[in-house]
Amino acid sequence: MGIDVNSMKPLDNLCHPVSVIKEAEVLAADAFGSKHAFFMVNGTTSAVQAMVMSACKKGEKIIMPRNVHRSAINALIISGAIPVYVNPGVNKELGIPLGMSYESVKQAILENPDAKAVLVNNPTYYGICSPLKKITELAHAHHMLVLVDEAHGTHFYFHEELPQSAMSVGADMAAVSMHKTGGSLTQSSFLLINNQVKEGYVRQIINLTQTTSGSYLLMSSLDISRKNLALNGKEIFDRVIELTRYAREEINKLGGYYAFGKELVNGDTVFDFDVTKLSVHTRAIGLAGIEVYDILRDDYTIQIEFGDIGNILAIVSVGDKDFAIERLISSLSEIKRLYSKDKAGMLDHEYINPLVAMTPQEAFYTSKHSVPLENSRGKICSEFVMCYPPGIPILAPGEYITQEILDYINYAKEKGCFLTGTEDREVARINIVTEYEGSGEEE
Ligand SMILES: Cc1ncc(COP(=O)(O)O)c(C=O)c1O
Repeated sequence: MGIDVNSMKPLDNLCHPVSVIKEAEVLAADAFGSKHAFFMVNGTTSAVQAMVMSACKKGEKIIMPRNVHRSAINALIISGAIPVYVNPGVNKELGIPLGMSYESVKQAILENPDAKAVLVNNPTYYGICSPLKKITELAHAHHMLVLVDEAHGTHFYFHEELPQSAMSVGADMAAVSMHKTGGSLTQSSFLLINNQVKEGYVRQIINLTQTTSGSYLLMSSLDISRKNLALNGKEIFDRVIELTRYAREEINKLGGYYAFGKELVNGDTVFDFDVTKLSVHTRAIGLAGIEVYDILRDDYTIQIEFGDIGNILAIVSVGDKDFAIERLISSLSEIKRLYSKDKAGMLDHEYINPLVAMTPQEAFYTSKHSVPLENSRGKICSEFVMCYPPGIPILAPGEYITQEILDYINYAKEKGCFLTGTEDREVARINIVTEYEGSGEEE
């Protein structure tokens, strides 16, 4: 309680740092190799939104993969920026979305020379990286900014064997979730800027939505974690890399599971892979990832990061002891023995390319009404539907609701995924864009 203070004069002010927060920002920028670092206390969500809103005004275009986190599409609803979606590559066997290919970004840039920025995930939740350096060079050659969602890439800055970080390849802005793999308290994050991006303007954008009562608990935890990573990062991630390497090898020896890794690298849509992400494909044993996730938690008291349709993801940290990894491996072995079944009839993909009818802002604010999900086929969605985690929208405002999407939602519900985004808490109804008076949709 003693350190949960507010912005009195000697403690500086997050909205306008001039003393101790400013000094801490300089140290953070130094640790991440950026021109400036902002302390963010409204999550990486606000860092992603500040990037988009700094780069694009209403009506301006931004090129981005569609497998972004909801915060990026939310930023479009707030700002009125227009997305030019690049469909990510897809690994058919695993059913997961990959990174953006260089050629598809190039095509989007050539077809939309007026776009202001390109947004890249580095890496995806599953640990997959796009060819960020080449994309950055290409975007800069066309006078576009490069914004990087590095919610899952904090550690890239502190170990040379990990994929390249946004700042190291010359990207302009990066949203870095210190609270995910950097060890700070939940909700704390950094926004990094580089090159010609103006610190003062970005701060004004951040201040449009960020609290005026920045938490000193969160800010201190960011500062302490920054110091820890700057001094001990190499050693910390040496250990994490070793733990995950061992776990991956042992899980693959169990058979049935596939803990994927660097062998996926193809120089393009999987330009690199973050080996600290222990992503395991589970469909071959007849269990959805979310089912394995639930069994691990309920029967083995092992809490992992997430489970979706075909995969689980465990994020290993320096805090994990060897025996915890052994327990995870032996539990997965037992789960396979006790629960595996025929995989016939299981859904085999995590991602469906959207059919876009309207911009997210238009669709969100237009006249809309609620219908039961089963009556929504062919309509334009005006809200989000997603499993959380990972928080990548299955549907975003402005997209057509297809039968394939409805089947996916029903399957995810049936398997126990936590669905979010709709005004209706049960996710039994969905808001759709009203086409015309009395359009006949069943209420
Ligand atoms: C890729 C990605 N970007 C942004 C965010 C938002 O981060 P936060 O939850 O800190 O707001 C997340 C959260 O899971 C994420 O996965």
